[in-house]
Amino acid sequence: MSVNSRISGFHKLSVEERVLKVAEHAGIPSASLDTFIDSGNLPMDVADRMIENAIGTMPIPIGIATNMIVDGKDVLIPMASEESSVVAAVCNAARQCRASGGFTTSMTGSLMIAQIQLVDCPDPFSARIKILEQRDQIKEICNEADPVLIKLGGGFSDVEVRVIDSKDGPMVITHIIIDTRDAMGANTVNTMAEKLAPFIAQWTGGRTYLRILSNLADQRIARARATWRLEDLGGESVRDAMMQAYYFAETDPYRATTHNKGIMNGISAVVLATGNDTRAVESGAHAYAARSGRYTSLTTWEVDKEGSLVGSIEVPMPVGLVGGATKIHPVAQTNLEILGTKSATDLARTIAAVGLAQNFAAMRALATEGIQKGHMGLHAKNIVAMAGGIKEEIDIVAEILVKAGTVRVDVAEKELAKLRGQ
Ligand code: MEV
Repeated sequence: MSVNSRISGFHKLSVEERVLKVAEHAGIPSASLDTFIDSGNLPMDVADRMIENAIGTMPIPIGIATNMIVDGKDVLIPMASEESSVVAAVCNAARQCRASGGFTTSMTGSLMIAQIQLVDCPDPFSARIKILEQRDQIKEICNEADPVLIKLGGGFSDVEVRVIDSKDGPMVITHIIIDTRDAMGANTVNTMAEKLAPFIAQWTGGRTYLRILSNLADQRIARARATWRLEDLGGESVRDAMMQAYYFAETDPYRATTHNKGIMNGISAVVLATGNDTRAVESGAHAYAARSGRYTSLTTWEVDKEGSLVGSIEVPMPVGLVGGATKIHPVAQTNLEILGTKSATDLARTIAAVGLAQNFAAMRALATEGIQKGHMGLHAKNIVAMAGGIKEEIDIVAEILVKAGTVRVDVAEKELAKLRGQ
């Protein structure tokens, strides 16, 4: 049966009515959708206000990464991820650099950029100067849009204007640079850009179109570094193999993409656990990795005088503590309490450290025993569950599969049958 996606008035229905409608339209029993209705630790009325047309929630496991020392303080890191080995990777990497003090972090500040696009300007370069001349008024217009932010010490920081060469000729792009303090700041800077646009059109005689933040938050860069001593990481051969892994990622975009994906395994898990916008952070990170014109590693790895492995990371980190899902999602609030972060900058710095830890662990595994050994333990348990295993059967059969080196559903089914004496 073909699905008809035209459901008028869907948004006006209750959550339960929407579930029934979806079941009817998709031609599946409504009982299959019952699982959506159990909203777990996110109350359904909150979920229903968070997004449109909500029909339920989908839990993702939260694991705690232990062993992290960030700027001299021990921190527990809540990570929300559907992927096995991600939490264990951070625990291991963090344990191996505890002796050398853990992670040292810093941040450029909490500046976000919003862009205003101006076209139909026959004299784009003089339009650029005309906009720059209005700096004081631009500051006033931006700051008037958010008096609370000004009280908190944030607000307008700078204005930059670029003339870009588009397929349709020159465009004048204004960047307002706003300190959004503890907010991620998307709503704030978008409001300011929308307020400012008519003035830009008036000052230049051009026409404005887009008014929106840039996710290339290159003025909100979180940095972290850490040192792994030879005796803690497994000796010279491991270190040298890891350096080979780094040189590979640094040179080759195919490898750099996967290397950075591993970094984002750590970063996105904390971003999600704290109710922040994973896509904002991800798009910014990947664009930043390509800022030289060639996509490369977000981390840098070196060997210091003592022969230790030294890693560092720089990554845009537009995350907040106020506004958005962070403030209304009860689990995000608890995760922030676990982290003990007092500011968005603190959070961003810790997240950068997690990204670096994740990268260390992935490079170490890949350059030595390979990634599959670590993955297989949990993966095997999932396979046994898929084959119908329950409770202690899962551990018993998973161990058999890993030992035999054949982690497959058909093998799990046979082993389960044997275990049950069938
Ligand atoms: C898997 O999710 C992440 C890795 O592929 C990262 C990497 O290759 O560096 C293991």
